[in-house]
Amino acid sequence: MNLPSPAQHQQGRRALPPRAQHFRGSLGRFATGVAIVTFDGVSKRHGITVNSFTSVSMEPPLVLVSIARTTKAHDELAGRPFTVNILGAEQQGLALHFAGKPGREPQWVEGDVAPRLAGVLAFFECTPWAAYDGGDHTLYLGEVVAFDYRNGDALAFANSRFTTIPESQLGVEDLL
Ligand SMILES: Cc1cc2nc3c(=O)[nH]c(=O)nc-3n(C[C@H](O)[C@H](O)[C@H](O)COP(=O)(O)O)c2cc1C
Repeated sequence: MNLPSPAQHQQGRRALPPRAQHFRGSLGRFATGVAIVTFDGVSKRHGITVNSFTSVSMEPPLVLVSIARTTKAHDELAGRPFTVNILGAEQQGLALHFAGKPGREPQWVEGDVAPRLAGVLAFFECTPWAAYDGGDHTLYLGEVVAFDYRNGDALAFANSRFTTIPESQLGVEDLL
């Protein structure tokens, strides 16, 4: 078996086989928002940047995040309440902070069931609903018990790059 050398391992995605790189690149064409999942673990507070956030159900209100088995957050999230914090355009630093490039310690807010981050564009506090096998990820569904939002431009992620989406003037609320 060809294991990657430590140097290759450091290079992260560049060390992926060509087909996996191509797969990742293809998936990256789907533009998403950026969120941070926050929760209290056994002995410490966790935050993990994700773009795999999806709304699932209105009644009951359910949302989903997909967490890689290799992350520190993965095992500790099982069975625990969590908050999905949706980031605004000016919060790229927070996205990096919780993706392995720590900066200044963010400002935390004690939520009703889980900790959350101050100043985010929207948040969803969740109690655990279900967890499903998702290959090398686990799909964690949460039942939303508290939520809110503010107006503002959104932080987005596409083609492996951060970008921003201005708050639109064109409403299609009547189509949803
Ligand atoms: C924009 C962006 C989106 C990400 N989306 C996910 C995701 O949906 N699921 C995931 O498991 N990791 C995702 N990651 C990677 C994790 O944030 C990263 O591996 C993190 O350092 C894991 O933290 P932990 O090991 O301390 O739990 C994403 C990273 C970035 C920058």
